[in-house]
Amino acid sequence: MELYDLRVNHLCNPLGYEMNKTVFSWKVKNAVGKKQEAARIRIGELENFETLIMDTGFSKNLSSIASQVDVPLMPCKRYFWDVTVRTDKGEEAVSSVSWFETGKMDEAWHAEWITCDNQQKRHPIFKKKISLRGKVIRARLYICGLGLYEAFYENERIGEEYLTPYCNDYSEWVQYQTYDVTEMLQKEGMLSVLLGNGWYKGRFGFDNPSESGFYGDKWKLRAELSIEYEDGSKDIVGTDESWRVERSNLIFSEIYDGEHRDDTLPKLPEEAAIVCEAEKGKLTARLSTPVTVHEQIKPKELIVTPNGETVLDLGQEFTGIFSLQVKEEKGTKIHIQTGEILQNGNFYRDNLRTAKSEYVYISDGKEKNICPHFTFYGYRYVKIEGMEHLEKDDFTGLALYSEIPETGNVETGNSLVNQLISNIRWGMKSNFLDVPTDCPQRDERMGWTGDAQIFSAAATYLADTYSFYKKYLYDMACEQKTRGGKVPQVIPNFGKEGTSSVWGDAACIIPWNLYLFYGDQTILEEQFESMRSWVDYIRRTDQKNHCWRQEFHYGDWLALDHPTGGENGFLGGTDERFIADVSYAVSAGIVKKAAHILGLEKEEAEYGAVENAQYEWIQQEYYTATGKCCIRTQTAQLLTLKYHLSENEEEARKMLRILLDESDGKLRTGFVGTPLLCKVLSENEMDDLAYELLLNEEFPGWLYEVKLGATTIWERWNSLDKNGCISGTQMNSLNHYAAGAVAEWIFRYAAGINMDETDISKAGFKAVKFTPRLNQTLGYAKASYESAMGLYACAWEFEDETHVKVSVQVPFGGKAQLIIPEAEKSIFDNKENPMFADVRDGICYLTAGDYTVEYTIEKKPASYSIDTSMRKLLEQKEIKKFIGSMIPLETLPREFMPMSLRKLAVQFGGAQEEQLEQINEVLKKF
Ligand code: BGC
Repeated sequence: MELYDLRVNHLCNPLGYEMNKTVFSWKVKNAVGKKQEAARIRIGELENFETLIMDTGFSKNLSSIASQVDVPLMPCKRYFWDVTVRTDKGEEAVSSVSWFETGKMDEAWHAEWITCDNQQKRHPIFKKKISLRGKVIRARLYICGLGLYEAFYENERIGEEYLTPYCNDYSEWVQYQTYDVTEMLQKEGMLSVLLGNGWYKGRFGFDNPSESGFYGDKWKLRAELSIEYEDGSKDIVGTDESWRVERSNLIFSEIYDGEHRDDTLPKLPEEAAIVCEAEKGKLTARLSTPVTVHEQIKPKELIVTPNGETVLDLGQEFTGIFSLQVKEEKGTKIHIQTGEILQNGNFYRDNLRTAKSEYVYISDGKEKNICPHFTFYGYRYVKIEGMEHLEKDDFTGLALYSEIPETGNVETGNSLVNQLISNIRWGMKSNFLDVPTDCPQRDERMGWTGDAQIFSAAATYLADTYSFYKKYLYDMACEQKTRGGKVPQVIPNFGKEGTSSVWGDAACIIPWNLYLFYGDQTILEEQFESMRSWVDYIRRTDQKNHCWRQEFHYGDWLALDHPTGGENGFLGGTDERFIADVSYAVSAGIVKKAAHILGLEKEEAEYGAVENAQYEWIQQEYYTATGKCCIRTQTAQLLTLKYHLSENEEEARKMLRILLDESDGKLRTGFVGTPLLCKVLSENEMDDLAYELLLNEEFPGWLYEVKLGATTIWERWNSLDKNGCISGTQMNSLNHYAAGAVAEWIFRYAAGINMDETDISKAGFKAVKFTPRLNQTLGYAKASYESAMGLYACAWEFEDETHVKVSVQVPFGGKAQLIIPEAEKSIFDNKENPMFADVRDGICYLTAGDYTVEYTIEKKPASYSIDTSMRKLLEQKEIKKFIGSMIPLETLPREFMPMSLRKLAVQFGGAQEEQLEQINEVLKKF
């Protein structure tokens, strides 16, 4: 038996994070027992636990997924902890020792904010010689530099993080980071800090096209180096006017526009640092998880384009920087630009709009490796000018993203689907750079709330997102405080004041998803005010006359069914007012559920009443007396079914089928409908249509993108036209994650690891429903998910046309229900198989363990009948021939395709009952 994945506040050995609460979690594997009987947490000041601060003793109440323990914490202190678990079989195991270390908490800073002459373009390096009085046993650097900073000791980089202190609404709060520099301080040396412009003082956001910063116009630094010696004495070196300023060779740095470095510049005389006013935003311990270099990507090919450009193809679109080995003559100017795609074989970047996305380097003649500091690029192709000798291996792409440990994996028997899954994962990595962004390449790269909420469940299957979203949600709560609960559409805000339903509903949906996935109610405690104040904002706007829906709403953004907008438009065909009204009810319902979990009875009743009233209004306003939705779009039917808006769900199912037939089995959905599409189909016994949508290779669809060479997810279904040409440049990114939301369905249904949302007590994957859905074309699907509870896995495979193998795995402490797909009832008679030890109503109830079954699939009812739609029938060549012999298909109007053959045969062929029966018999045989 082994204990693993020990975390505090969902982080592994966190150093210097904000810690209002301390939540402990752990996992168990290789145990004989099935679940935890009791656990004991010890917390001490020393690794050997000689002096204990806390010992919970064995307790049945400590949950392995989230145990909030009140620990009296001191600032700047490391605490050690371990956990002992006793299982239901009496085994016991102790974990290895973990730790967490507090930041400065409320301790005063012994450091001033300092600045320098800000007229100078050359970026400053603030520095201070560090003298030591003896052997250093502990040293910590607490630091925040604005816009962005990188710190060095004796020219060696401190830590591995990029783009610190990260992106916030700096007028609200600013993060400092803590580094353990004990090793480095074993010798005296120079502490230096290079500053860049970044989000704080650079050009960023729509409303700030100039070069001046949105939040500030000065480079600023506050740093405190705390040194402890062997003899127990301490030194603190803080920023003040004794620090010196040297000018670097960086003369330009911008998030959108890249960086310029001139190594021929002369050394300038040092300046004295200037003490300056404190930042308005509260200097706070970090919440951001580290942004570091992950994949290192070597170019696949060096291309000389028809236009004569030298271009490197990295084979994968991603977000990050690069390193380039250069050795050019003194004064040589190297110009590097990035792009997402080639057009007619040539370098292309018009869709980056005003973002220059470049790097300019002037060589001093020495051989070296150059690497940007204060920018990032969303790219696959790199155009390089000015290099005499360029080998493709001189260049390395460095993927930058926040720490989001991989948790979910899926593989299928279809290589295009596998590429799609890879594209979705890269879409996530590319847009999880401190803030969940819409895209990483053009002059936007902002925390659009709608995109973030739509993708949050898919992302949380793929990776551990708790801490990443927690920071974003904190940013959101900050922005709401000064806006009466309104959630601006972009977080951190950067002047985008407007809001919209679905977008602002991120305030409720993301924390709720985190609760469902991780089972830690801390996120609800922390966000409750934000969630509630968003719904209150809608309530105030809505008044008694349903005014909320009259505001501007993005609606089913980028759907294909707008009557005038069409495929290149922005808005969808589903009435935005309907979407706004539904989202309002959904958010109110989430606040109600959160209140229930937090034991807030009054609020539970209050928001429950808002939710009910809103659902009643929706029924009155948008549904006929017989329960038919008045809005005839795919997305409207999906919302109807997902939120049970009509008592006549059969009507919505029928309508959804008709609408899909009308569009040739293709989707027409945008930001609202797409995440629901396959999920709702599978939840309504229409797996056939869900798979048809997934596996469709034509426009519009996920595999259409894959077939056109996409390596990430596009913003628009038609970002590229069939001929590979970009369809427009106004709003067209090739790296937007929103449509990648389909990954949630792939995990839940195609592969079958389905989170049980119906029972809130199961949150945190205490239990799953395995609901794999077989598909001959896909061949197999195997998925694993490292949940808060441990590893769940589910796999199915067609061994031949009729034989299937299904295997599942349930972790220690976990539970599962398994519905074996397409199996005859007799399968349960095999009592030898532990899978069938507990079967009730055709469902296998499972506890921790591995289970496998091989079986012959149930004989399926015939796929085709006289009542099948013409579209479906005509897809099959043989059937088409058969029907063609009865009905002149060439003259059949396209609009008739959703109709059944029965209708057409009666209407146009005058077919009688007997004849229809004969045709039916023939069709059943196909
Ligand atoms: C972004 C979107 C965003 C939208 C608002 C765009 O510019 O890229 O993804 O949600 O604006 O509708």
